[in-house]
Amino acid sequence: MLNTQSFPPLVIRGRSLLPIVQGGMGVGISAHRLAGSVAREGALGTIASIDLRHHHRDLVELCRQSPDTTTLEQANLTALEREIRAARVISDGRGMIAVNVMKAVSAQADYVRVACESGADAIVMGAGLPLDLPDMTEGRDVALIPILSDSRGVSLVLKKWMKKGRLPDAVVVEHPAHAGGHLGVGNLADMHDRRFDFLRILEELETVFASLGLNRRDVPVIVAGGINSHEAVRELLNAGANGVQLGTPFAVTEEGDAHPNFKRVLAEATPDDIVEFISVTGLPARAVKTPWLMRYLRHEAKIREKVGALKHACPTALECLSVCGWRDGIEKFGHFCIDTRLAAALRGDVANGLFFRGREALPFGTAIRSVHDLLELLLTGATRPAVAGRWSFSLG
Ligand SMILES: Cc1cc2nc3c(=O)[nH]c(=O)nc-3n(C[C@H](O)[C@H](O)[C@H](O)COP(=O)(O)O)c2cc1C
Repeated sequence: MLNTQSFPPLVIRGRSLLPIVQGGMGVGISAHRLAGSVAREGALGTIASIDLRHHHRDLVELCRQSPDTTTLEQANLTALEREIRAARVISDGRGMIAVNVMKAVSAQADYVRVACESGADAIVMGAGLPLDLPDMTEGRDVALIPILSDSRGVSLVLKKWMKKGRLPDAVVVEHPAHAGGHLGVGNLADMHDRRFDFLRILEELETVFASLGLNRRDVPVIVAGGINSHEAVRELLNAGANGVQLGTPFAVTEEGDAHPNFKRVLAEATPDDIVEFISVTGLPARAVKTPWLMRYLRHEAKIREKVGALKHACPTALECLSVCGWRDGIEKFGHFCIDTRLAAALRGDVANGLFFRGREALPFGTAIRSVHDLLELLLTGATRPAVAGRWSFSLG
């Protein structure tokens, strides 16, 4: 386990952690092995709750036999419970295990309930404003961490939650110009707006907190998106961030829960291979230009024209999103089945999968290294030689 002496610890709900957070990554990219391994090092590891059934052969088989919404939903909840318990075993009582729940997902309240019942230490919620998260978790001893993009969003959540008598246990501020996956900005042209700059937000938050009668130290601020070196970690922590969150660099670690092909696609992507587009959630997203995505983007305009206000049946019967561009025929949104595409990427199907990725180069370049090595590099700047032959995998 690494120690925190080089930087002050990130303290969440009284627990002292390394100031590096592993962000939640669906579908199945951050499951028990990654989150548990990060927690074992004394940091916050996050399981992405969405569609975890893909990691469990018995549940996949059950859903193949009865492909209806109730069976699919129950399989995902069973998988979440298993993943939290397995992560706990790996963590050996160290660090913290969080569960990431996307606000845009239909079964968000069930995911939150099962996460609490299965012993998650924290719920992290993004992809929409998590204004009702305190109501969903009333009476539970669990840390609540919203994900936002600018100081206005943080201010809004603070005000709403204070009326409910609750403060976030930390907030994640994610930069839409750098992060992987869905991006917290309405319009792609807006993503370089200065209101998303970490240093500006850290400064603005001093005023926001003071205006609400709070001390900035009451709520740790964790910044996320494109952080890829010890120098960046040092700069952000020295500027007042209490922690930094990384996604892509953890997805490609040895312990990452995805297929080796998934890691290779992310690790080997050059800046020209990365693209932003509109997802079926209506939010912009960032991913690698793999064959399916390129084909989809080439035909996107035509597909949109055709679907217009046409409604489709949900192709998986899962009805995963409360609002889905494909199922609901929303012209301005994306038109594909996100569950099918993300599950293909998890399995390492390079031709058909959707591979979310952040925009920046990775701390170890194209090399696949362990969670321990990554944390050590970020916290100390030290890199030790890779140990040959350590990269071995099993899916499910
Ligand atoms: C493959 C992938 C999947 C992701 N899925 C989710 C998700 O399900 N929920 C979420 O809140 N954020 C998700 N993210 C965002 C990460 O949690 C993290 O905040 C972000 O990737 C940080 O930027 P970085 O990749 O440049 O480090 C995802 C990111 C990646 C790369």
